[in-house]
Amino acid sequence: MPGLLAGKSALVTGAASGIGRATALLFAREGARVTLSDLPGEALESAAAAVADAGGEAQAVAADVTREDEVATLVERAVARFGRLDCAFNNAGVAPRSVGAAGQRIGEMSRDSWDALLAINLTGVWLCMKHELAAMERQGGGAIVNTASIGGLVGLPRSNAYVVSKHAVIGLTRSAAIDYAEAGIRVNAVCPGYVETPMIGESMARRGEQILGTVPMHRLGRPEEIAEAVAWLCSDRAGFVTGAAQVVDGGYTAV
Ligand SMILES: NC(=O)c1ccc[n+]([C@@H]2O[C@H](COP(=O)([O-])OP(=O)(O)OC[C@H]3O[C@@H](n4cnc5c(N)ncnc54)[C@H](O)[C@@H]3O)[C@@H](O)[C@H]2O)c1
Repeated sequence: MPGLLAGKSALVTGAASGIGRATALLFAREGARVTLSDLPGEALESAAAAVADAGGEAQAVAADVTREDEVATLVERAVARFGRLDCAFNNAGVAPRSVGAAGQRIGEMSRDSWDALLAINLTGVWLCMKHELAAMERQGGGAIVNTASIGGLVGLPRSNAYVVSKHAVIGLTRSAAIDYAEAGIRVNAVCPGYVETPMIGESMARRGEQILGTVPMHRLGRPEEIAEAVAWLCSDRAGFVTGAAQVVDGGYTAV
């Protein structure tokens, strides 16, 4: 049976780790040729090598999603290598801890932390969309999935900038879905619950039982379980789905 994404050219940001890495691998297994992107480093190269080892066609292109020149080059290189860009998964993101804001409420947080988090989680997605949408419009269609979070749908404690960024990603997704529907471009978001990646390692170590107590399935998601939803949303099988915020959270937001 041909793969879900057979013959498609796909781009994944945050592809060196966690959800992005698992999605790049699944995209390749489903027949896509994949451009993996992340900050420069060994982890990005090894993720691309893992795709190639599994028989996929892949290239690694380092880019900081907060830098428009680097994002523009990333999209250009995906198109140059594989002839077009059919699918894009805008997934790079950070938790408050990465910008020095772990456990902080608004009154305790610095302006620098706020700016740094929004630059990656929100402006980074906007920049990627800007260049991907232009490329997809030129070729007559495509599909984009942005990584939001359960924090894009409900509040989370001591995560104000993160929650704002993920609510905004859903807003961006919906407005782009409307603006680009006639161009044949579908734009959706995926909203993972707590997923077993390096991003939540420290929180799990500190208060794992408390976190699991909020999840009806009483376990963490696996990155591969998020990847399945993303691959489907990117595929032609989701042809009438646009502007959606697909929850994959073990029941967290059902409570
Ligand atoms: N793990 C969870 O529980 C969870 C839950 C909901 C949403 N998410 C979201 O899923 C996405 C992926 O997170 P993950 O859990 O796989 O974490 P992760 O830390 O394993 O992966 C995130 C990747 O993004 C990259 N990145 C960070 N800043 C970047 C930048 N400026 N430019 C390019 N790449 C950058 C990192 O290098 C890293 O490889 C994030 O957007 C995160 O907010 C995660």
